[in-house]
Amino acid sequence: MTNSRGEFSSRFGFLMAASGSAVGLGNIWGFPTNAASNGGAAFLFTYLLLALVLAYPALMAELIIGRHSRSNAVTALQLISVGEKSKLLGFLVGFLGIVTVTFILSFYAVVSGWMFALFIEPIARFFGWISVASWLEFDSTARNIIALVLFMVLTISIINAGVQNGIEKWARRLMPALITILIALSLYVFTLPGALVGLQAYLIPDFTRVASAELLVDAMGQAFFSLSLGVGTMLVYGSYLSKEENLPMIGGLVALLDVGIAVLAGLLILPAMYVALESGVEIFDSQGNLIAGPRLIVSVLPNLFGTMGSVGLFVAFSFFALMTIASLTSSISMLEVPVSYAVEELNFSRSRASVSIGGFVTIMSILIAMNFDWLFDVVVTLTTELSQPLLGLFFCIFVGWIWRRDAILEEIRCGSPNVQNSIFWKIWPFYVKFICPLAILMVYLQ
Ligand code: PFF
Repeated sequence: MTNSRGEFSSRFGFLMAASGSAVGLGNIWGFPTNAASNGGAAFLFTYLLLALVLAYPALMAELIIGRHSRSNAVTALQLISVGEKSKLLGFLVGFLGIVTVTFILSFYAVVSGWMFALFIEPIARFFGWISVASWLEFDSTARNIIALVLFMVLTISIINAGVQNGIEKWARRLMPALITILIALSLYVFTLPGALVGLQAYLIPDFTRVASAELLVDAMGQAFFSLSLGVGTMLVYGSYLSKEENLPMIGGLVALLDVGIAVLAGLLILPAMYVALESGVEIFDSQGNLIAGPRLIVSVLPNLFGTMGSVGLFVAFSFFALMTIASLTSSISMLEVPVSYAVEELNFSRSRASVSIGGFVTIMSILIAMNFDWLFDVVVTLTTELSQPLLGLFFCIFVGWIWRRDAILEEIRCGSPNVQNSIFWKIWPFYVKFICPLAILMVYLQ
């Protein structure tokens, strides 16, 4: 069974794939702007704390269920359930995860399409194809649809190639490129006037906001979205992980990479915004808040690149390459969730599953792009604010309350035989059983 399902060939391959899923638009766009509008380093501290005490335990829950069951999200949750009722609950939670991730991908592909169009734009300009470049630069429904379709074709092709030849191969290439571009761009932006003011806005904490409920909700939502939790992505990637791997350690590395890249992205985006301000670009909205929504990426930053002359072309190219890579390694992880279910439970071939489900997502994305003004926010709110934390809560309930504790220990001991005496085993079971569900519930009710 294992062979026909596929398995990551190495720890590095898994690390690149799982951190590729985690690191996405949420880190490079969402995190820095959330931090800027929520008290700078005060948000950073809250986020780090929540990532450590809430998101990491929830991530471990998904990885452990996945590696134990070696199957898609629905079957996995049913396998660890004992009675009929919990099996039914397993089916419902797994299935809702699949539906949620399919809809997340539908809106994610729209935004990723913009990134892709803006990545091609400097190339067209470089070759002197000015009318193509202008068409790519300006927001239009036709451009958005064509770009999202191309982006989905890339996503579908990688998933179609399988776990090792698709997901792992591309994550191994793209993630080191992403980290290199991110570091190089941050270093470059630091040499420009205004960068230090941006750094202050990012790093000087406004502690009056730490206790605010809004900040807590934002930081938790950010942590869950960023680690791709609740919708079965990490469960499915965990199901392709070798039994020899030390799960607590490898999960810790994924969380660290995710948080580290988000923090690093803050060192790029906020200084870049203040550099833009210095060059005369508007970075505050009419209420005096930093522009954080789509305008930041599709207008503020491109305006900044426009003031840089010919270097700007190269900077724009690198920046949107970074955004496209971040989107692609996340979108493939999303498509893998329904595809693995269709292959294992509905007996689809991998290519039939990737093309039909990917095609369905593409149609949904086109509908969202065509009705952007009202539909986009509705889908984002329903999936990431309502469904995702609730599903995260159920994953913790499955591990804390439904799955037998000795079976969990046995699974973690593969790859870390002494885990029983470790601090992880002293704290984590208690955490997923009580603290995580309660904390998620409290923040959710906010
Ligand atoms: N973690 C991704 C990001 O930060 O952009 C988004 C994401 C990927 C959410 C995969 C959900 C998911 F299943």
